Amino acid sequence: MCGIVGYVGSAPVSETILDALSRLEYRGYDSAGIAILNSKGLEVRKRTGKLKALAEALQQEPVEGHIGIGHTRWATHGEPTEVNAHPHTDCTGTLAIVHNGIIENYAELKERLLAQGHTFRSQTDTEIFAHLVEEFLKAHPIDAAFRLALKELKGSYAVVLVSAREPHRLFGARNASPLIVGVGKGETFFASDVPAILERTRSVVYLNDHEAVELTVDGPRLTTLEGKPIRRQPTKIEWNLAAARKGGFPHFMLKEIHEQPAAIEQTLMNRLDPAKARVTFDRKTKAFLDTLHANERVIIIACGTAYHAGVVGEYMLEEFVRIPVDVDLASEFRYRDPMLDRRTTVIAITQSGETADTLAGVRLAKEHGAKILTICNVMGSSIARASDAVIYTHAGPEIAVASTKAYTSQVTALALLTLYLAKKRGHLSGAPWRRLVEGLANVPRLIEQALQAEPEIKAIAAKYAAARNFYYLGRRYNVPTALEGALKLKEICPLIHAEGYAAGEMKHGPISLIRDGWPVVVIATHSSVYDKVVSNIEEVRARKGHCIVIASEGDHAIKRHANSLITVPKTEEIFSPIIAAIPSQLFAYYVADANGCDIDQPPNLAKSVTVE
Ligand code: G6P
Repeated sequence: MCGIVGYVGSAPVSETILDALSRLEYRGYDSAGIAILNSKGLEVRKRTGKLKALAEALQQEPVEGHIGIGHTRWATHGEPTEVNAHPHTDCTGTLAIVHNGIIENYAELKERLLAQGHTFRSQTDTEIFAHLVEEFLKAHPIDAAFRLALKELKGSYAVVLVSAREPHRLFGARNASPLIVGVGKGETFFASDVPAILERTRSVVYLNDHEAVELTVDGPRLTTLEGKPIRRQPTKIEWNLAAARKGGFPHFMLKEIHEQPAAIEQTLMNRLDPAKARVTFDRKTKAFLDTLHANERVIIIACGTAYHAGVVGEYMLEEFVRIPVDVDLASEFRYRDPMLDRRTTVIAITQSGETADTLAGVRLAKEHGAKILTICNVMGSSIARASDAVIYTHAGPEIAVASTKAYTSQVTALALLTLYLAKKRGHLSGAPWRRLVEGLANVPRLIEQALQAEPEIKAIAAKYAAARNFYYLGRRYNVPTALEGALKLKEICPLIHAEGYAAGEMKHGPISLIRDGWPVVVIATHSSVYDKVVSNIEEVRARKGHCIVIASEGDHAIKRHANSLITVPKTEEIFSPIIAAIPSQLFAYYVADANGCDIDQPPNLAKSVTVE
């Protein structure tokens, strides 16, 4: 996710900003830029790739000054090119802004600004903000223009603005994207996160949504968007740098587990409108989906965790769109001479967009005339570029090797796709349609609730941490939850063997191993196969296995079947794999933690597998 820095002070400005940006590198980025104000006006430098490229550019052509802004961009709207890199300027080149987040109504604002004569250079949603402030500046002083422009934005943003007319002040604000203020000695900062400034100051002012800040060397002045002053004392940061990078969490994995409500919000943003009971996609994706034949066949290809998301997708698309779906491991698909033609759509699911087998599968499918739709987290990645259409998950960079928020956002993207196609093909309408749209809109809130069970899950994990074999069982939509739960545990705790199974298959083999105290995680949430799952639990218990049951809140009857019980909020069955994934991620995390495992960087595993 993008990193933002703003600086007011007397230290060398470009070095200070570059240094602070480098401390935000863990957030992930694909281009970087800086805008500095000096006697010549605003000077902007941008480069694609790593900060090193920007640092080299600044070495060749140094920029002096005492106030400026910087940005590392993780592309969401528009490819990671130099033009799309931040800062973005207005038509006059006298103001520059950096932004993190997604401006939901950018298309309509852009249309209006184009009609008012503004010229755009980039494909980003961000650039509209510079022009919007420019427009308000025609009739207002800069602080008011900044606040009026903010009021027009829908969606998420953290923004910082520097203006050639204001040599001593920066302006910043946030809504649902992070931005803090650092107050040092004779210098002040804006930053996306504490690690950026921790070497310079431990005094931080946390900002709330819909607050505007004017930052001078003396400190921040906070107001509401109406200009009403707000008083807030700085907080003293006690964490060390390593902890600060993880937002206070001991591991990136735990941080990313907790980021899921926000990540899913981002996946749904601009696509799901519960008020209008509408699901939509960008123009290109809609055009792609409109070309699908009435008898289209779908093959989902993916690896690892993304494959498990694909299995959920198969259940969703077949049940609600009545379209035949096969799910294939990309490494099998590419070598098994699959049947492909123009009436086949291959859906590639990939967090990184770089996995070698998935990329090879996409290329093979293309050669055989199939159409490619990709669900991906990284804009401009190889697989995204090789596809006819892409649904970006917008989950933000995932750093821990074991995938968590990328998985639930992939399943969310598949749910959006399912609802869109089901409505279009007339399989869903009226009350059932509205119920599902509302159910999906509710998912981020339900994840928040599911996360509250963390202390109980930690206690249950401690109870089973010494076990060396685990089974995971589920049925229908939660077969993939079982597969994914087992994968999480064996990925991050190499001392443990864990296997996921369709519960109905238990008696065809795995049951023979069950003995006294063998832990079996069973997903028994509210569903059409609930009774069958309960029977499977009893089969395990008859052999003295221990069932750790993940069930729906309010299910009192399940208590007598469970050795340990974890409850999650109720939802429609189609969305249950998203909610049930949360306790199973936390369980794996705490079992691994109790075993002293290297959770974020497990041995022998890589985040992105770019070799066969
Ligand atoms: C590796 C990662 C997994 C991931 C898989 C597929 O094995 O450790 O977390 O699920 O690759 O990666 P992709 O980027 O294609 O989703």
